[in-house]
Amino acid sequence: TRFLGVAGWPCGHSKSPVLFNRLFEHYRLNCHYTRFEAPEIGPVMEMARLISAKGLSVTIPFKQDVMSYLDEIDEAAQKIGAVNTVVFACGRAYGWNTDWIGIRKPLAHLSGSRAVLLGAGGVAAAAAYALRDLDMEIIILNRTPEKARALAERTGCRFGAWDDFDRTNPDLVVNATSIGMQPDTGSPLRDDQLKKEMTVCDLVYTPPVTSLIAAARKAGCTTILGTETFVYQAQEQFRLFFGIDVPDTTIREILA
Ligand code: ATR
Repeated sequence: TRFLGVAGWPCGHSKSPVLFNRLFEHYRLNCHYTRFEAPEIGPVMEMARLISAKGLSVTIPFKQDVMSYLDEIDEAAQKIGAVNTVVFACGRAYGWNTDWIGIRKPLAHLSGSRAVLLGAGGVAAAAAYALRDLDMEIIILNRTPEKARALAERTGCRFGAWDDFDRTNPDLVVNATSIGMQPDTGSPLRDDQLKKEMTVCDLVYTPPVTSLIAAARKAGCTTILGTETFVYQAQEQFRLFFGIDVPDTTIREILA
């Protein structure tokens, strides 16, 4: 049996073990997916090598720290500044970022749009990379404007202050802040800022329907849930681990 797992602190909430173990059954792979819950990533990486683990999903707060334990890092992950997937092969550890691919997939039909990206943290960096890859015209708004400026300069986007939203007139709004994540029930925007012509994507997926998504539906907007991005980032991880393209419908059925 080869081991894989999610490394985080905490990571008890992760849906990955259930998802991956079901996929191993489905594809008859002699693997087991577990949780490596530890306060530091160094010892987890050491143990993963000792037990010849096949790979790791890396989550909060290790997506940056893990980078110093890798032999090679994919170009997109380097630009985003975060690794969420580690593949062990031939005694080497390879780092990837599948978060941006998960964000890109459900937004691909909106390439070239005018987008407002709310937030400037780790999730926002992956989102900025995805939106740039889709040739969008992006303005990053953040509560702390200096962080919006830093991310905008690093990714070639524009930036502004939170209050600038009403002057932006976007086709697409992506929430990459943590506002709305359980137990917070807030929304990053006022209801009157949502117009029916907008597509609203919330990268928060606990709960699946956030206050922002509920308000956007009420306003007649097209909405994209954060769970969609999880589906596609997991699909990409499975491809990196095993070279198998799992249909997104299979992943959705398991998560339902
Ligand atoms: P993550 O890995 O989820 O991106 P992060 O790097 O801590 O986490 O970033 C959290 C983001 O949510 C930041 O953009 C943060 O804004 P600041 O840079 O001003 O801190 C944003 N955020 C969190 N709580 C917020 C709140 N109550 N109002 C506005 N923005 C908030």
